[in-house]
This record gives sequence, C-alpha cells and structure tokens, in this order.
Amino acid sequence: MIDQGTIQKIFDAADIYEVVSEFVNLKRRGANYIGLCPFHNEKTGSFNVSPARGIYKCFGCGKGGNAVNFIMEHEQMSYVEALKYLGAKYNIPVEERALSEEQKRERNERESMLVVSSHAREFFTYQLHHTDEGRDVAMSYLRHRGISPEMIEKFGLGYSPRERDAFSRAALEKGYKKEYLIKAGLCVENEYGLFDRFRERVIFPVQDIAGKVIAFGGRTMSSDKKMAKYVNSPESEIYHKGRSLYGIYLAKKSIVRQDRCILVEGYTDVISFHAKGIENVVASSGTALTTEQIRLIRRLTSNVTIIYDGDPAGIKASLRGIDLVLEEGLNARVVLLPAGEDPDSFARGHSSPELFEFIAREETDFITFKTRLLLGDAGDDPIERARVITDIVRSIAKIPDTITRSVYVRETAMQLEVEERILYTEIGKIRRQGEVPAPVSLNLRPVTSTGTLSPCDLEEQVLIRYLLLFGTLDLYEEEPEGEEEAPRAVTVGEFIIRELDEDDLTLFNPVYNTICEEYRKQLSSPSFFPDRHFIAYPDERVNTVVADILSEPYELSKLWIRLESFVESEQTKLTEFLPKVIDNYKMRRVEMLTREADSRILELQNEGNVEGIVEWVKKKKVIDDVRGKLSVKLGRTGVK
Ligand code: CTP
Ligand code: MN
Repeated sequence: MIDQGTIQKIFDAADIYEVVSEFVNLKRRGANYIGLCPFHNEKTGSFNVSPARGIYKCFGCGKGGNAVNFIMEHEQMSYVEALKYLGAKYNIPVEERALSEEQKRERNERESMLVVSSHAREFFTYQLHHTDEGRDVAMSYLRHRGISPEMIEKFGLGYSPRERDAFSRAALEKGYKKEYLIKAGLCVENEYGLFDRFRERVIFPVQDIAGKVIAFGGRTMSSDKKMAKYVNSPESEIYHKGRSLYGIYLAKKSIVRQDRCILVEGYTDVISFHAKGIENVVASSGTALTTEQIRLIRRLTSNVTIIYDGDPAGIKASLRGIDLVLEEGLNARVVLLPAGEDPDSFARGHSSPELFEFIAREETDFITFKTRLLLGDAGDDPIERARVITDIVRSIAKIPDTITRSVYVRETAMQLEVEERILYTEIGKIRRQGEVPAPVSLNLRPVTSTGTLSPCDLEEQVLIRYLLLFGTLDLYEEEPEGEEEAPRAVTVGEFIIRELDEDDLTLFNPVYNTICEEYRKQLSSPSFFPDRHFIAYPDERVNTVVADILSEPYELSKLWIRLESFVESEQTKLTEFLPKVIDNYKMRRVEMLTREADSRILELQNEGNVEGIVEWVKKKKVIDDVRGKLSVKLGRTGVK
C-alpha cells in the first residue's frame, strides 16, 4: 500500500498531456488535445485529452480516465505499478506503507526468486552467444530450425550447458543464495550436491505480463524419443503455470491494438508467428487452457482465435478451449490447420501475406466450426443433426450474456435450419439445470455480473452527474435551529444524499453507489472538490464513470457552445431541476417495486399462499400511495 499523501502528490504532479504524449502523438485543438487512440485502430483521431480536467477520453472506443488509468491501460500495469511508474517519472519517492513481517518475508522471497531468475536468463543467453558449446551446438540447432537471430534476441533464447552444475556453481560463486536457486526451480539438491535442472537444452524464458522472467522451458536438441522433449520450471511462488501465458508480455500491445488474441500451443508457434509479423499471439504451453489464462487475456481483449494443430488431439483441445472462452464471456473463433501441420511449421512454410490471408479466410466462429466438424459428411442424417444441435446449444448456454446468446441462437438457427424458439427452450433447460446459475432478481439487485443495467440506471447516472458537477454549490438556506444561529446553506450534494436517506435508497449501480457513499463521507470535509477527488479516486471504475460525465460536452463537439450554455442554465435553475430529477428517480424505483410486488403476488397465488398474498397486497397499497404522491409532484396525469 502506498500512503494517501504520496498518491495525492503523484496525481497532482502527473500532467495528463505529458503522460499521454509519451505514447500518443497529440495535436492541439482549442483547450484540448486530440490524437489517434492507442486502444483501438482508427484513422481519424477521436482520442481527446483535456489538461484542464486531467482526463483522456476516446469517443471511438469509449476508454477514458485519469493519468494513472492511462498508464494502467496502456502499459497493462496494476494501480500500484502505475503509481510507481508516475512517481519515478516525476521524482516523487514512493514508499510503501509498512508491511507485516510475514508480508515482508513473502515479498522478499518472491523478489529474491525474481532476481535469481533474471540472472539465470543472462547466464543462459551468455552461454548461447559466447561459448563454443553454445555456438556450435545450440545456436546451430536454432538456426537449423529456422529461428532468426532477431527472434533469438527478441525472445531472449539461451542455452544451458552439458555440465551438471555449470549454472549452480556460477550462481553460488556470484553470491546468489542456494535457497532461492532451489525455490525458483533452477537448481536441484541431492546427497551429492547442487545440480542444474536445465542441462544441454535450448532455453525459452517465460515472462509475466509485466516482462519479469518467472520460469524457463528447456528443449532437448536430441531426437532421442526417450528424452523428455521439454523440461519446465516447477510451480513456485513466482510461477503458476495455469496462470501464465507464454509470450503475453511481447503480445500485449498488439492484442489491444488488434482487439484480438491468437492462442497457440507451444513456444515455437509463438516465435514463428512473430517472425511473420503476427504479434498478438500467446501460448498455453502444452497444458489445457485454464480459466485464469482466459481472464488474463480478458484484460486486453474479448476476442480470441484458437489456432491448434489439425490432428484429433488439437481438435479436442480446440473444442475444450471454445467452451472455456465462451464461459468467460469472450468471443471464440477457431482456425484449423491442415493435418500434420502445427502453427510453427505452417508459419515457417508460408510467406507473411499467405499466413495473414489463411487466417482471415479460415477463421470461423465456433458455431460454424462445430457444425462443420461434427456434421462432417453426415449432412442430412437427422439423428446426426440433432446431436450437433444439442452440442452447439450446450456451448451457447455457457455464454453469460443474454444478448450475445441471442446473436448465436440466430446464427445457429440459420446454419442448421432449426427454429430459434426450439433452441431457446433447450438453452433454458440447460441453464435451469444449474449448469449455469441463472441470476435471481427477487431482491431487486441489478444483474451486474453480466453487465446488465438496472431499469433505473440512466436516472442514477443523472443523479451522479449532479453530484459531480454541482455538488458543492449552495442550493438553499435552511432555517437555523436556534434563534441566535445564522441560516445555513444546504449544498446540492447534501440535498441529494438527504433525499436518498429519507427513503432509505441505495443506488443499484455499484459504481454509482461507491461514488455516493464516498461523497457522504466527504460531505463535511472543507477541502473536498468532487471532480478532482473522484478522478483521482483509487477505483478505476469510478475514474472511468467520472471521466465520462466530465467529458460529456465534447462528445457533442458541434453542440459544444449550446451545451455549455445549457449546463449554465441548468446551474442557475438547480432549485427547479434538482427536485424533479430526484422525484423522477424515486418514481422509477417505485415502478420497479410495483413490478416486483406484482410478480410476487402472482407467484404466491400459484403457490396458494394466502397469508403471503395478504401481506404483499398490503405492501402494494403502500407502494401505490407513494406512487400517487410522486405522480402529483411530477405533474403527471393518468395516475394508475
Ligand atoms: N510441452 C511440454 N513438455 C513436453 C511437450 C510439450 O511442456 N514434453 C509444452 C511446451 O510448452 C510446448 C507445448 O507443450 O511448446 C507444445 O508441445 P509440442 O507441440 O510438442 O512442442 P512444440 O512447441 O511444437 O516444440 P517443437 O516445435 O520444438 O517440437
Ligand atoms: Mn512444433
């Protein structure tokens, strides 16, 4: 943890223009700057930077936030990493708050293991480039396999010598501790001493998303089938195989830019793709794809293309991969290679344009893939067709998002010539079976896990907008309690919070609710500036929402002047507008309650639960009363 004072210093120092312009070519446009968005491909700039507000916002892809968010997004760093990065840039010493002894020990241990691994990587590359053994055996093996010097350099390939303890001895001599050499999986100890795990192998260093070396894969150069083809680092505190992806560090920028991640199986597949100019590629390194690996990808893109070998094992792995990718809410496409080829051999055997063209042509969504694969020649056999449909329906049922599901239902209905209704019935059955828990909405919480918005989201957004833009303005003067006291001004923020409290309302949208709760805490603080406070608030989602609201005027750049004056008139008419805004929100909530009451009553009727019905009818009456009063206040006619 970094202390709040330091965080504030960093936010104050970090000039959004300076920070962004290191990565994006920005041109002045009035009080703002504009450039090509680094987060999606575009030809005309829709990426805006506002130095006055300290925010960036892309109107093409919607990304936006403060300087720290920019670094997090662009460099794929964590919040703390981004703060450290900016701290270094602006010479602000970043000291982390005291850790417990246990935390310190763990951190030191991990750091020591990382130091040892980084040293090992240097050792292995030195061996490859500067020893006779490395040059004669390993380098010629790599060259023979068609791996270029550029790729050897880019991937930091190395060589571990034949001698049993070459690395162990050298590392101990340099003062690295035996404990960490063993923990990092580089050395193994037995009764005869300390030995190297990697011997006489070509070394592939594995980096985490931030570029730190966390493990190694060593490939034998011998064609002896009895030799393990690869020896890999064991699981350790710094290396969790199922949570890492080979090549992620070198791929991350390209994945974001292309908005797609290509998934292959092995080290050499990744390298050969890079050699042909395809950089948005990572490998699961032989193990079955894991949920954690997909979540790592999800931070960068929601589109995954699986390219596996065209053999039965590869196809099976692709099918497993598809379902996992769908389950995590990402889009899955597949490219099958001609039998006998793996991505590495295929890339080496084709020119760059051929490779690009092949992928573009062969890439199919998972429905087409499954249809072709499973239907095969059995074309019109009704039993076969039914089996294929069931299989595809199972995959679709795994998709968490309703809208995405419906898109795929339509596609399947078309491709397999079945009625959508039938597919929906089947999907409903599977989802109800509890394979995928359906969200329960009885307690009136929004279905946030799938990103669905509550029916009152817009109204909540309007409230938050008022808090941020006008929160600290005085709304009216309150009669003093005692005779002596002077009248006290009630601010817009106070008014909103009070109104919500009065009816015991919490906002549905978790991000808006965070803003509201934080606002409540800050109410009595004299140095509270909502816009600045929330743009620097340590919650990315809050920053994004605030950046969105604050950058609203340029969204309609042509209407800019009209909008500014609208905001102005809005400000002068606060006493008129604000109560309406609040009542409007309350009305929405009452409508939601009414709907809930109606469906509860219906349910209770089906159950024949008379007591329950009586209770809910009473509740409904109260709700109806409130609704009637609100209607009158809002000047609506046709009260139900
Ligand atoms: N793998 C492993 N141990 C093995 C075999 C494979 O860890 N004994 C992992 C490696 O990460 C490898 C991936 O599984 O990169 C894919 O295996 P494979 O296709 O057999 O290896 P390639 O990467 O194609 O290696 P090469 O081209 O050198 O045969
Ligand atoms: Mn291979």
